[in-house]
Parts: sequence; structure tokens; C-alpha cells
Amino acid sequence: MSRRLALVTGASSGIGKALAREYAANGWDVALTARREDKLRALSEELEKQFGIETYVITADLADSAGPGQIIDALRAAERDVDALINNAGFGLPGTYTQTTWKQQSDFIQLMFASYCELVHRVMPGMQERGFGRILNVASVAGLSPGSRGHTLYSAVKSALIKFSQSLHFEGKEFGIHATALCPGFTYSEFHDVNGTRSMVSQMPSFWWLSAEQVAEAGYNAVQRNEPICVPGLWYKFMTGLMQVLPTHMAMWLMDRNQSKFRAAEDTTQSTPQEG
Ligand SMILES: NC(=O)c1ccc[n+]([C@@H]2O[C@H](COP(=O)([O-])OP(=O)(O)OC[C@H]3O[C@@H](n4cnc5c(N)ncnc54)[C@H](OP(=O)(O)O)[C@@H]3O)[C@@H](O)[C@H]2O)c1
Repeated sequence: MSRRLALVTGASSGIGKALAREYAANGWDVALTARREDKLRALSEELEKQFGIETYVITADLADSAGPGQIIDALRAAERDVDALINNAGFGLPGTYTQTTWKQQSDFIQLMFASYCELVHRVMPGMQERGFGRILNVASVAGLSPGSRGHTLYSAVKSALIKFSQSLHFEGKEFGIHATALCPGFTYSEFHDVNGTRSMVSQMPSFWWLSAEQVAEAGYNAVQRNEPICVPGLWYKFMTGLMQVLPTHMAMWLMDRNQSKFRAAEDTTQSTPQEG
């Protein structure tokens, strides 16, 4: 097989779908994974037809600790190595910490952090042996900003992903492995429909919004160039730059001021959770 293979998690919509398209357009075969098989099959057909590449559809639930192993086993059965890993699958959990169940939070950690780490751990040794690898972890500008009230673990997990990517960036250097944390701001996708915050985030000014294609192109180029952190869009470059130079208490004050405007509607809709 002459073409390299990119494994994209969360490829059934939004940023993951755009990233799969970006890799296919650049001549990579792609392995598409998520839970919704119909969406993956439709994308697979479209990419094979448009770009003449080979695709693999693997359904897996990455909130289940067996998920990463199932994906790698399926690729091993197809005798394909992963040359690029795009860790992207994710969701948002609105509400404050105690307004959510532990099951929701532990699924969140499993999907948004543990599955990313395990997939890297499973594919990186092969990349080292072959002397080539690309690892793109989709984090967020939230990982470069203070924590917020509500979505409690989101910025913590995204921040950990940024640090993780930086470490991989150093560890991969001598093996021809590039590692990048992609940090988008608000991006048009299904994300805010899935977590029920669409009407709230629609109040954001239009210049705050990025397209999934814009984010995917920036991420692809950044990992090709081996940039450890990629923040797409001028507004977010400015905003995250400001967050890095402001004293922490001022950055937290700004965060609090902004979020109280947008989170008020969300908080009133939350009830005490049933433990699950
Ligand atoms: N949109 C934004 O404003 C924004 C900003 C910064 C960062 N991000 C990050 O970008 C990434 C992609 O989000 P998006 O905006 O593209 O949202 P999206 O359109 O909702 O896509 C999320 C993807 O993750 C998959 N997924 C969700 N739960 C899963 C599970 N349990 N197992 C396997 N796959 C699962 C979904 O597929 P199935 O439902 O088919 O499983 C879908 O393909 C996330 O990591 C998110 O944190 C988004």
C-alpha cells in the first residue's frame, strides 16, 4: 500500500469530518471512526469517489474503555498501520460540576482524555519504528484560558491535551514524529446542538465563529510543519496571546465577566442529577 493512512476520531461530523476531508484531499487514505455508522459510510463513499483514496469505517464508542483497542484491532485486521492519528472526538457537558452525574464526568474524561492518550500509546511505537508519524490532538482555546463556571472539566482536559502534545512534540523529534495541539475557538459544527447550548452561543458575535474547514486546514498545515500549538484565526491568536500575558487574576476576572453573560440561561435549565 503506497498511500499513508490517517485515523480520524469523531469523523461523523464537524471538525473531524473536515479533517478527514483535508487528509483525503492531500492524498492520504483515511480510517473514519465515531458511533454513527450511516454518517461515516456516507463520508467514506464521498471521499473515495472524489479523491480516489481508500477508506475504512470503524464504529466505536470512545467513552467505553474498550473503544481504542477495538479501533486498532480493526486496522490490524486490515493490515494497515496508522501514519497520522487525529484525536478529535468530543462533546461538551454543560452545567456546574455538581449539576452533573459522576457517570457523565467519567465518560467525559474517558472520551476526551483517556481515549486520546491510549490511542497515542498504541500507535506511537509503530511510528517510531517506521520513522514517520503525525499526531494531531484537537484541544481548544479553552485550554489556553482560565477554567470557567460550568463545563467544569472542559478547559482542564483541553489544557492537559496541550501539555501532552508538547511532550509528544519533544519525544517524537528524533523519530520523525510531529505532534500538534489544535486549539480552535467557536466553530460551526454539531457540538453546540449536541450539548444544547446552540441558542446561547448564537449570541456570540459572528467574527468569533470559525468554519470547520478553516480549522481543519490550519490543523493539517500545523502538524505538517511540526508546530506544537495551532490557534486558528486572528481573533483567537490575539485573545489567547492576551490570556498568556495577563496576570492570572485579571484573566479570571475577564472570564467570569464574559461567562456570566452567556451561562445565565444555561444554569437555570439544569436540575439536580440522578446519579448514574
Ligand atoms: N465546535 C467548537 O466550537 C469547538 C471549539 C473548540 C474545540 N472543539 C473540539 O473539537 C472536537 C470536535 O468537535 P466538533 O465541534 O466537531 O463537534 P461535533 O460536530 O459534535 O463532532 C463530535 C464528534 O465526536 C464524536 N463523538 C462524540 N461522542 C463520541 C463517543 N462517545 N465515541 C466516539 N465518538 C464520539 C461524534 O460522533 P458520533 O456522535 O457519531 O459518535 C462526532 O463525530 C471536540 O474535541 C471539541 O471539544 C470544538
